[in-house]
Amino acid sequence: MAGTSSDPRRRRWWRSPASRVLAGVTTVAAAAAVLVTAPGADAAAGTLGAAAAQSGRYFGTAIAGSRLGNSAYTTIAAREFNMVTAENEMKPDATEPNQNQFNFSAGDQIYNWAVSHGSRVRGHTLAWHAQQPGWMQNMSGSNLRNAMINHIQKVMAHYQGKLAYWDVVNEAFNEDGSRRSSNLQSTGNDWIEVAFRTARAADPSVKLCYNDYNIDNWSYGKTQGVYRMIQDFKSRGVPIDCVGLQAHFTGGSSVPGNFQTTLSSFAALGVDVALTEVDVTNSNTAQYSALTQACMNVARCVGITVWGVRDSDSWRSGESPLLFDGNGNKKAAYTSVLNALNAGGTTTTPTTTPTGPTTPTTPTTPTTTPTTPGGGSCSATLSAGQSWGDRYNLNVSVSGSSSWTVTMNVPSPAKISSTWNVNATWPSSQVMVGTPNGSGNNFGVTIMANGNWNWPSVSCS
Ligand code: G3I
Repeated sequence: MAGTSSDPRRRRWWRSPASRVLAGVTTVAAAAAVLVTAPGADAAAGTLGAAAAQSGRYFGTAIAGSRLGNSAYTTIAAREFNMVTAENEMKPDATEPNQNQFNFSAGDQIYNWAVSHGSRVRGHTLAWHAQQPGWMQNMSGSNLRNAMINHIQKVMAHYQGKLAYWDVVNEAFNEDGSRRSSNLQSTGNDWIEVAFRTARAADPSVKLCYNDYNIDNWSYGKTQGVYRMIQDFKSRGVPIDCVGLQAHFTGGSSVPGNFQTTLSSFAALGVDVALTEVDVTNSNTAQYSALTQACMNVARCVGITVWGVRDSDSWRSGESPLLFDGNGNKKAAYTSVLNALNAGGTTTTPTTTPTGPTTPTTPTTPTTTPTTPGGGSCSATLSAGQSWGDRYNLNVSVSGSSSWTVTMNVPSPAKISSTWNVNATWPSSQVMVGTPNGSGNNFGVTIMANGNWNWPSVSCS
């Protein structure tokens, strides 16, 4: 059966008192309100990406191109993660080794691997004091400023429309909250906003992020310095969409007790937040659980990325900081993260007006639930899951057979962005083919609406 024209946000509106509260607070500057966002009635998801997708979040990892030939590595990465950051391959020294001569082969290899495994991609990074190509390290003044602008324009043009986020500027602050000295900083204090304005013009479709480490503790000078910059940018209309907290709880640091306050405070400025490079010394389960819970408790915390797959892949492998050991076994921290993702969160809404999901004005009665006989012995039924300002979840229930193939066609420009409890491939962003993965006959899918909220059609065979 063809999809209906029902807007899933509206369906959710009448179904869920919780979402009614969530939508309502986006229109007013309200005092903090508390609500529960449980992932739903489905069985707990069995992978990190699937568990995160139930609440519209992602769970990602850094991928190193040099490891893509290692099947133990790629098997875990493909199974568990639905967001990929290139660990080094999209940095300036990799993409522009000689001035104005660009090389995207290593970055493209990771991008292609990611999307062919159903993952979205976070670009990392465009302007940074480190990992600059040699020619750039020796530059200063207007030559460097122009080279930075050219770099952002050319790299973003190559990936135009393909990435979910870009770390436009990385690590530009000192520990005390002042600006870090660098050749980029020496071009003038406005270099960061110039980078963001250039980035918005180069690719309006991608979310633009500032990314840094040691901005986890709300009372720390560096956190406050970055906060003031974001606040200033928002007040002056400098385009910025997100803050990435690297969240390296290695090298002597650990998750602060006020971590959630930091996330919700940044979010209250009207930006998404994400944990972008997580690792924890010896994979302390309490810390992994706490950082995951903090993200789950903040509505605008869009996802978590760990900085590598197995301990042996980590830049700090001596601290065994990741979720899989060197043999690819799940560690106790893996289970603590998975459980926290499956449990959902208690969401504290921001105390200032966010730019959140559109508020439906009139609750509507849903039309007939789409049920799709596929000409075979099974049928697939869609029902609404959670929805947000840019995307929505659908639950798919298959009946008539336990050995099925469900094909879903999403109306352009909407795109499939993740699935759970199903073996799914989407050879194009609009067509998904799913078969059972041992989780039963119910699975879920997240769809980026891109302005088209019409439900997909489904068929079952
Ligand atoms: O690939 C070369 C190899 O050919 C050569 O023999 C070897 C000798 O040193 O170097 C190899 O390159 C190394 C590269 O990692 C790949 O392993 C570089 O030296 C090394 O500097 C580089 O380190 C990366 C580091 O960023 C550089 O700043 C790490 O892999 C990467 O995990 C790390 O990632 C950063 C984030 O981008 C920003 N936040 C902090 C995070 C951790 O430092």
